[in-house]
Amino acid sequence: MPRKTRSRPTSETPLHTIILAAGKGTRMKSALPKTLHCIGGKPMLDHVISTARGLGAEKNHIVLGHGAELIRDWLEINPSEDLVFATQEEQLGTAHAVQQAMPDIPDDARVLVLYADVPLIRAGTLRRLIDQAGDGLAVLTAKLSDPFGYGRVVRGAKGEVLQIVEEKDASSTQRKIREINTGFMTAPAGLFRGWLDKVDNQNAKQEYYLTDVVALAAKSRKAARAVTCEDTDEVMGVNDRLQQAQQERVFQRRQADALLAQGVSMADPARFDLRGSLLCGVDVSIDVGSVFEGSVELGDSVHVGPNCVLRNAKVGAGTRIEANSVLDGAIVGRDCSIGPFARLRPEATLSDNVHVGNFVEIKKTTIGEGSKANHLAYLGDASIGSGVNVGAGVITCNYDGANKHRTEIGDGAFIGTDTQLIAPVKVGAGAYVAAGSSIARDVPADQLTICRARDQRSIKWKKPVKKTS
Ligand code: UD1
Ligand code: MG
Repeated sequence: MPRKTRSRPTSETPLHTIILAAGKGTRMKSALPKTLHCIGGKPMLDHVISTARGLGAEKNHIVLGHGAELIRDWLEINPSEDLVFATQEEQLGTAHAVQQAMPDIPDDARVLVLYADVPLIRAGTLRRLIDQAGDGLAVLTAKLSDPFGYGRVVRGAKGEVLQIVEEKDASSTQRKIREINTGFMTAPAGLFRGWLDKVDNQNAKQEYYLTDVVALAAKSRKAARAVTCEDTDEVMGVNDRLQQAQQERVFQRRQADALLAQGVSMADPARFDLRGSLLCGVDVSIDVGSVFEGSVELGDSVHVGPNCVLRNAKVGAGTRIEANSVLDGAIVGRDCSIGPFARLRPEATLSDNVHVGNFVEIKKTTIGEGSKANHLAYLGDASIGSGVNVGAGVITCNYDGANKHRTEIGDGAFIGTDTQLIAPVKVGAGAYVAAGSSIARDVPADQLTICRARDQRSIKWKKPVKKTS
């Protein structure tokens, strides 16, 4: 019976994607379902959902099987009306998987099949696939120098697509074909349903192969079309950790290239990792080996040295982050100097022109303009004014074993080397705290406060000598 899908689809034809995510992912050798493994810090399934949404699909049907509960739990973080779940209790093949979603798809829709373990497909490529499908079926193919393991695209004398043969079912001549099925396929829902109903499992794997619909489409009045994807990186699947690592590099290179095109300078785009979003001003430069996570913003002319980690951080214009520094949930003002080896933890908020040197840890602390903590200090739960000098080895003793207490340091104060500020405590503006002081009570402004053991003796003493046995 001819169905209403025979008319050429218009841009109004609703798109329904089916994302296959029921497979086990045995080769990952992991307790986590394969599609929750990450590329660029984001689960593969999430990449595919984002791409599907980018196509403006009316509904995205996710076929779950192995680890369904874990995946649902994770997806609950991002609930949305456009996501529909189908369950494939037993993994009987890709056609069987697709069929689990079909009851929820109207005949006048267009179906696009996506694989949750092929995360780097571009929306533009899929749009091209849909456009070229016309009112029939289209498969996305690629030419590989090593096609082993993939379904091969068998064409007729005039180049028309006849069928797809799986590796295990292919003849030796067919195995020499380098054009492979990537798995991405689109068809009008009504026709697709009819073809799917005819698929059986009479093959080497005794599975219901989705690829069999291609021969059925080719035999019908609707020819099956093949659309070639030139960039093979887009269509590579992730089945094991090696492929995951390879796709990670592809993804990172894409991100690096996009930043380079925006004018960011990178010492080596192959040694750059972004697991989230990075917003850069003009003339930002990034040295090798740094990792950016979550949402990071770098102002104009910011320099990030080698091997830094910046997570959910915001850095003002002109600031330099020197080698091996970690910024996590920190906000840094303009023209600051951070590191090398500095650690800024959540709620470290630095004003402009602040200097933080090596082995300084800062947590839940605000630091005013022009203040310095250049060496070996812990500043936690503190508010530090502007123009303050924090000497080497200064510690805010913020924790009494049960509760955290605050330290307040006024503008222009000088905190001598190796001072312990036993919170809660306040140091007045312009105060000088002598080196080695243990400060347990508030320090008045503009005075020198010394609090250390008075006794200093020099006695005759015999230097120890190393024993020889
Ligand atoms: C499939 C194609 C092959 C293509 C290759 C591209 C078929 C029969 N073969 O082979 O032509 O070259 O992909 O990578 O389609 N899945 C389910 N339920 C199942 C089986 C699979 O949800 O019962 C899901 C998997 O989780 C995966 C996808 O479908 O996301 C592909 O399955 P897989 O077993 O990897 O198919 P291939 O043998 O690689
Ligand atoms: Mg596969």
